[in-house]
Amino acid sequence: MSKSTSSFLTTEPSDLIRAANLLRQGESVALPTETVYGLAANALNPEAVRKIFTIKGRPLIDPLIVHVADFTSLQQVAEYDSRLEKIKSFWPGPLTVVLRRKSNVPDLVTAGKTTVAVRIPAHPVFRQVIELSGCPLAAPSANPFGYVSPTRPQHVADSLGNRCPWIVDGGPCQYGLESTILDLSSPDKVRLLRFGPITVEQLEEKLGKIEIVTRQENQAEAALAPGMLDRHYSPHTPIKLIARGADLPSPSDKTAYLLLSRRLTLPTSENIFYLSESGLTAEAAPQLFALLRQLDQQGFALIWAELAEPQGIGLAFNDRLTRAAAR
Ligand code: TXA
Ligand code: MG
Repeated sequence: MSKSTSSFLTTEPSDLIRAANLLRQGESVALPTETVYGLAANALNPEAVRKIFTIKGRPLIDPLIVHVADFTSLQQVAEYDSRLEKIKSFWPGPLTVVLRRKSNVPDLVTAGKTTVAVRIPAHPVFRQVIELSGCPLAAPSANPFGYVSPTRPQHVADSLGNRCPWIVDGGPCQYGLESTILDLSSPDKVRLLRFGPITVEQLEEKLGKIEIVTRQENQAEAALAPGMLDRHYSPHTPIKLIARGADLPSPSDKTAYLLLSRRLTLPTSENIFYLSESGLTAEAAPQLFALLRQLDQQGFALIWAELAEPQGIGLAFNDRLTRAAAR
């Protein structure tokens, strides 16, 4: 872990103007979104975008999401698709849609693809910075490539350290899991590329049946978008998974247990960590990445982590935990 020498900016107007000016000048700034912290740069400036890849150690074949303030700005970078009308109500919010790109988007952003991923974020700070800068902002999660995404400003400083000079402190992220990614780039297909806070049920209500193309189903495609690789979001400590409510494997002081909610049958132990009081996945999910990072620093030999019910936001939760456990 590198020494933290990042400078934190507040969400006061003068600091947000400063963040917007830095972005306009081609710098990269970490910003809060409602999902995770993003490492932002002007999406239309290839030199600025290149800094994101360098800071993250991200392969150039992995394309970035472009964040815009509204539907009109979205159409400056992506081709309009009439199916967007059915899902517009999820924006601003934690939904990313892959569409055919417009030619002004640099190849670096799309990894040379004919498509571009776009999102209209809901976080008021991110929105203000887009508006103040006047730039569409390319932003991947603000973590080193392959490591756990940051859901608090200190996570960005801890793992990117002095490589990321500016971090806007917007407190903890609301959802704590990355956006849902929906691919509408083929006119006759609706495909889900990543589970996220907007659930399959919510999308199917608007669009009818959706094809699920996450990495389990399509390894060939996963190789083309490394963000879909099996081993992603991984802490250094090995993780093993247990089913919801299953008995805990025999305890040892080198082993941590990461559970969805308090179990009254268990004795209090320094090795048992709870993601929520209620056991509701929606309450547990925003804490997942923060606790994985914390346990990773505590030097356990192994983390046993409990999966959620595989429905709604539980699909996104299980997806991230399963990838974190992949070796
Ligand atoms: O919640 C989020 O989506 C966060 C915040 C910052 O907005 N961003 C985020 O970005 O998670 P990133 O780069 O960590 O994950 C984006 C994923 C990657 O797996 C990338 O391969 C995929 O989106 N992606 C980007 N453009 C794509 C495209 N044109 N076609 C298919 N997949 C694409
Ligand atoms: Mg990421």
